Amino acid sequence: MTVLIIGGGGREHALAAAIAKDGAQIIVAPGNGGIAREFKCLPFTDLNEVLDWCLTNQPNFVVFGPEQPLADGWVDVLEKAGVPCVGPTAQAARIESSKAFAKELMAKNKIPTASYECFDNPQEAQRHILSQANYPIVIKADGLAAGKGVAVVENEADALSFLESISGKVVLEEFLVGWETSLFAITDGENFQTTLFARDHKRLNDGDQGPNTGGMGAFCPVPEAEKWREEIENNVISPTLKALRDLGSPFRGFLYCGLMITEEGPKVLEYNCRLGDPETQALLPLLNTSFIEICEAVTTGTVGGLKLDWSDQSSVCVIMSSQGYPGSFNTGHHLDFSREIQSLIRFGGVKEEAGRLVSSGGRVLSLVALGDNLAEAREKVYGDLETIDFSGKHFRKDIALPRNQI
Ligand code: AMP
Ligand code: GLY
Repeated sequence: MTVLIIGGGGREHALAAAIAKDGAQIIVAPGNGGIAREFKCLPFTDLNEVLDWCLTNQPNFVVFGPEQPLADGWVDVLEKAGVPCVGPTAQAARIESSKAFAKELMAKNKIPTASYECFDNPQEAQRHILSQANYPIVIKADGLAAGKGVAVVENEADALSFLESISGKVVLEEFLVGWETSLFAITDGENFQTTLFARDHKRLNDGDQGPNTGGMGAFCPVPEAEKWREEIENNVISPTLKALRDLGSPFRGFLYCGLMITEEGPKVLEYNCRLGDPETQALLPLLNTSFIEICEAVTTGTVGGLKLDWSDQSSVCVIMSSQGYPGSFNTGHHLDFSREIQSLIRFGGVKEEAGRLVSSGGRVLSLVALGDNLAEAREKVYGDLETIDFSGKHFRKDIALPRNQI
């Protein structure tokens, strides 16, 4: 059994570790210097290199981490060449790669979400902003923006300045009040099964302050979300997958639903066409089911028969990032590990330099700990974080605290 994982961050390290439990041979492309200490990495960044490698090596599955290759149609090309892929085609990936497409799909199918208006360009959105006065308002760039395409703005000046930073279609959205959680559907296009709920912490600093990031930490499970599971499955996931089938672009892989639980119930904030980073790092250590079985079910249309089994432990993941992220930051800082740790390390922005690991990205690594409850997992992960050092390291100290303590 050979599995090729596409991507090179903490999420892909977590995928490799989960699949390794089944004894598969794992290749990560491009991976990173930290992942390469455990798994074979190939420096591919181009679809043709991946296609050539697949035609020669015939992997059983190609599993996708990030959204960009999905939006760029890698699955379309690989599947045409007979390579089984766990991830959606470019048409199905529009659910993430175009916010305007996703909003229209939700509106047409009465899927609960924030009310919105879509504009062809920032100038039209600007005209609308100048004539309306209800703040806060949420501004979203239509296309993929690595977490930088969304702003919650409190006044006209901030709205106009954010509009200047984006191009293409723009979505203006009602500001929703509530608390956030994420739910993933594993789907073959027809049937689906949902995972545990996870919660991401998107803001850079403690107390949910500072700019939005790709995610500074996550935890699983989220017991207070459980009472909404059936409603989300019936009113969000099921009609979303049906709508994509009806458009002739069935979605296969992992559908990520980012949700706001409001006074009126759950509403969709966003869809992603893949697993979350860092949610995956927290989620997968709790999965008892073989990940290979999940890949098989997705690619053979048998997700309905899948038996998902989860540990009843809790999991907490904390990201260590470079000072300055999500803005500009310095790299090349040596990672110092002062002692053995109990937590799992999932490497993100790191590379190997003269036999040592150095930082090379914004989100440098994730530490993940399990415990009988969130408090126990938190204690373990934060104990271990103190033993890892690099110049300018940053992490949040309130990941997985109860909501009223953040
Ligand atoms: P998105 O990439 O669309 O999930 O947006 C990033 C973050 O912006 C979300 O995780 C929320 O914290 C916030 N956000 C997005 N849309 C809304 C909304 N309509 N109301 C309130 N907050 C939002
Ligand atoms: N953690 C949010 C994301 O993966 O998009």
